[in-house]
Amino acid sequence: MTIDLNTLVQKYDTPLYLYNFDDVAKRYRELKGAFEGHKSLISYAVKANSNLAVVRHLAQMGAGADCVSIGEVRRALAAGVERYKIIFSGVGKRDDEIKEALEKEILMLNLESEAEMKRVEQIARELGKEARISIRVNPNIDPKTHPYISTGLHENKFGVEINIAKRMYIYAKKSEYLNPIGIHFHIGSQLTELDPIKEATGIVADLVRSLVAIDIDIKFFDVGGGLGVVYKDETTIHPQSYADVIFEATKGLDVTLICEPGRYMLANAGYLVTRVLYEKKNAGKRFVIVDAAMNDLIRPSLYDVYHKIEAVKKSEENSKESTPADVVGPICESGDFFGKNIDLPPLMHDDLLVIHSAGAYGFTMSSNYNTRGRAAEVAISEGEDYCIRKRESFEDQIALELACDNSWQKK
Ligand code: LLP
Repeated sequence: MTIDLNTLVQKYDTPLYLYNFDDVAKRYRELKGAFEGHKSLISYAVKANSNLAVVRHLAQMGAGADCVSIGEVRRALAAGVERYKIIFSGVGKRDDEIKEALEKEILMLNLESEAEMKRVEQIARELGKEARISIRVNPNIDPKTHPYISTGLHENKFGVEINIAKRMYIYAKKSEYLNPIGIHFHIGSQLTELDPIKEATGIVADLVRSLVAIDIDIKFFDVGGGLGVVYKDETTIHPQSYADVIFEATKGLDVTLICEPGRYMLANAGYLVTRVLYEKKNAGKRFVIVDAAMNDLIRPSLYDVYHKIEAVKKSEENSKESTPADVVGPICESGDFFGKNIDLPPLMHDDLLVIHSAGAYGFTMSSNYNTRGRAAEVAISEGEDYCIRKRESFEDQIALELACDNSWQKK
């Protein structure tokens, strides 16, 4: 980004999330372009970064939304996503969430168990509505990614086996209150290999062929999200190769192809800017203590994954001898780190560090741990900066506690 970070930091303070909206647009267009010539919908996975401005930016380019809670559905609608482009997924939807989703007439509810299908049918009956549904199939494919973000194996809690899915489609087809219009799978996140995607798509496309043969007309073929990005030196999947594999596997099917990228759209368009507080050495080991912490960006602590960290210094200072350091936050946990043995130049109080690839699963996984307010979020679009979420104040944090009557004190 050709943006002066020092000026931004003076204006917004640190820790600060920055998103390059031009980059997001570029990625959206590249992926959408890869599906050209086919009916397709890019249904952005809101969980990756749910800021209204981010969702609105994507919606304005035509994106739909993949949601996993009624809160996300409300966000998508508030951000201007067309209701017929909204999908509601997730293994555990509450009755009130199902009811609201049906009332809001979104595209479809993506079901993950027979029990859930019966609930949806019951609620639809009570509302006198027909529920448009898809079923999430678990194709039992190893996506070769981090175990915490692998979802397409039978040992994971997601989706249903092929045979159960078939049984569910047959039941739904007969039901007056269910309309099975879609099929879905999602084998995992941060996928960098095409073969598991190809295999899973093939399995699910075959299932669709067998459904079409018995007059169950699947109109939406949803391949989930999962496209990986470069954090360090990964070889990633080109969007066109991704789309081509899907075209090949679904040949002959008259379906709208849906994909649900989250990370691909936002990860590398986002940065977490933090300020150096202190440097210290413990038994010769160098620590750089910054003002962001695991409550702002938990990915390194939670998954032990790499995020590039760069010092913002004048180039002559940057070229001074770098030495390895652990970059850590102020939280009282040894797991509160952003990087270990990162080569960094000598740093001083108030120097800035930029943590890269922080646009997806950064802010959305943040918390108030240690009563730390959440960071501000700023969008950069065509060289201008726009505040898209104010820094959370102490008062914001305690507002809901103060709003209670505190009657426990009177007992
Ligand atoms: N669709 C479904 C049904 C999903 O479960 C997910 C992500 C996506 C789409 C979007 O996947 P993406 O395109 O972003 O890979 N917190 C973890 C990632 C968890 C992903 C959960 N599901 C991380 O920070 O790596």
